Amino acid sequence: MSQVNAIGLNSAKSEDIVKSLNTLLSSYQIQYMNARGFHWNIKGRNFFELHVKFEEIYNLLLLKVDEIAERILTLDGAPLHAFSDYLEISKIKEAKNISDGEAAVENLLAGYSTLINMQREILEQAGDAQDEGTASLMGDYITEQEKLVWMLKAYLN
Ligand SMILES: [Fe+2]
Repeated sequence: MSQVNAIGLNSAKSEDIVKSLNTLLSSYQIQYMNARGFHWNIKGRNFFELHVKFEEIYNLLLLKVDEIAERILTLDGAPLHAFSDYLEISKIKEAKNISDGEAAVENLLAGYSTLINMQREILEQAGDAQDEGTASLMGDYITEQEKLVWMLKAYLN
């Protein structure tokens, strides 16, 4: 007999999902800080437009940071909360001293593509564990970010 947790999910499978969610959380924290850095450091003709857009983007990222951490707690896990851990396991790298608008948008695009791929994997993992809560969260993020990727790519064109 496999063990189930307080919300009726297989404990071992939930632990695996927690592990993946902590990697996702770490990657979000770096993508968030990168977007925040672009908001501050951007220069040039598109300053006003991009400064505002990057703020919109980092606010969306920050909302998810909290939702992911609280999903981890819901699954009986512990969310990572130290930047030393985030840097170690994030799949997104820190971006430093980028002030060019196109370079910043390209960097964010690459980060979103990483996040979307990770979320697709977690969606599958959650499906296998009948973890509808995590699956629907991932589905919502993927839908929102696929659209954002289209818009960022259109900007670069
Ligand atoms: Fe600001």
